[in-house]
Amino acid sequence: MRSLTFAEPGFLLTDSGTGAMSAAQWGALMQGDESYAGSRSYKRFENVVRDLAGFKHIIPTHQGRAAERILFHSALQIGDVVLNNIHFDTTRANIEHEGAAARDLVIPEGRQPSLIHPFKGNMDLKALERVLDEEGRRVSMVMMTVTNNSGGGQPVSLENLRGVRELAHRYGKPFFLDACRFAENSWFIRQREPGQHRRAPKEIAQEMFRLADGALMSAKKDGLANIGGFLALNDDALAQKCRNLLILTEGFPTYGGLAGYDLEAIATGLKEVLDEGSSDRRTTPVYIAAAATLPHIERGEFPGIALTNALYLEGGVRACEIGSVMFPGTASMELVRLAVLRGSSRSSSLAPSPHLRGERASEVASCESRYCPRRWPEAWRCRCHRGRRGRCRRRWPMSSCSRRGCGICRGFRHRR
Ligand SMILES: Cc1ncc(COP(=O)(O)O)c(C=O)c1O
Repeated sequence: MRSLTFAEPGFLLTDSGTGAMSAAQWGALMQGDESYAGSRSYKRFENVVRDLAGFKHIIPTHQGRAAERILFHSALQIGDVVLNNIHFDTTRANIEHEGAAARDLVIPEGRQPSLIHPFKGNMDLKALERVLDEEGRRVSMVMMTVTNNSGGGQPVSLENLRGVRELAHRYGKPFFLDACRFAENSWFIRQREPGQHRRAPKEIAQEMFRLADGALMSAKKDGLANIGGFLALNDDALAQKCRNLLILTEGFPTYGGLAGYDLEAIATGLKEVLDEGSSDRRTTPVYIAAAATLPHIERGEFPGIALTNALYLEGGVRACEIGSVMFPGTASMELVRLAVLRGSSRSSSLAPSPHLRGERASEVASCESRYCPRRWPEAWRCRCHRGRRGRCRRRWPMSSCSRRGCGICRGFRHRR
């Protein structure tokens, strides 16, 4: 197995599909059955997912976002609302693409990076009840993202999942899990939730899934595979609609855009990720509170992008901004994520750079954006894109700028 080092450019950008597969996964790949319909590999995949998650319908997709698009196109109407702790960016975008609204209801502690709390990914149950009470007719489903990637990878407790399920069902709404990191969440529950210490991670994961009416998953995370995902649910009529759409865009319901060997790799990965002996296959990304690390840079000058750039320029490290650039207009925190690759490197190998230790933080320059999302406040836009009457004259993405001297608009520029 190849071992990567911290200095290798690119490797902390994401852990999505980038980890090393195990020998067992490579062995399973060789047994892929590529029959177009009803392959043995699908049966194996279906059995593993059903044993874990217990849902009636298991629909493979090529990634998590394909499962999102298929579910939301089949279940949402224009004007609907979806509630979640914090929506991931593709989840939010797929909901908004259907003309619906994505509302984040994480607990207040989950929006304060400096606070210590064991389950900062939990849903604010009072806020959930209030929204269901006031706008219940518009709410089409309640979701929970485990762990909460856009909120600093924070876990969700079993107790909170039970509370969300109870409220969703009291108001007659289906409850879905965005389960990309279900195994990581199970390990956090075992370590942190009273009464869970002696349970096997698999048993905890099974309970999490059985609280929901359905789940979406990107198998590129806790499926330990390089590609793949699935949508799983109990509702027969909705499953039929989803399968019809799947056939249009992904493929036959027993492969859904994947090769038989991919289904084999995922089936093996879903078992391995809950194996107590393989700790290097589970990884917890490191999140940095960029606004606190670079206090001299205001939010409108993009501390997350500034820190990401500094890490790359200094050490060739590619990280990922999770803040106002990823979530224009809805970000409550400015974070930078360093994703640790599964099976390839360990968090302990992250030699802290001077920028991360804060020693040279004051040297990091702020940024100005040449992109122009409509949801950003006017003041955040690059000066050449502010129109005469205070309105932005262009929409994101910009391909050129009309004012002389600006040149081609290609992204972020460090302020001098
Ligand atoms: C919580 C969450 N949901 C959905 C997705 C989308 O999955 P994919 O990248 O496989 O389309 C991701 C990807 O990172 C994610 O972290």
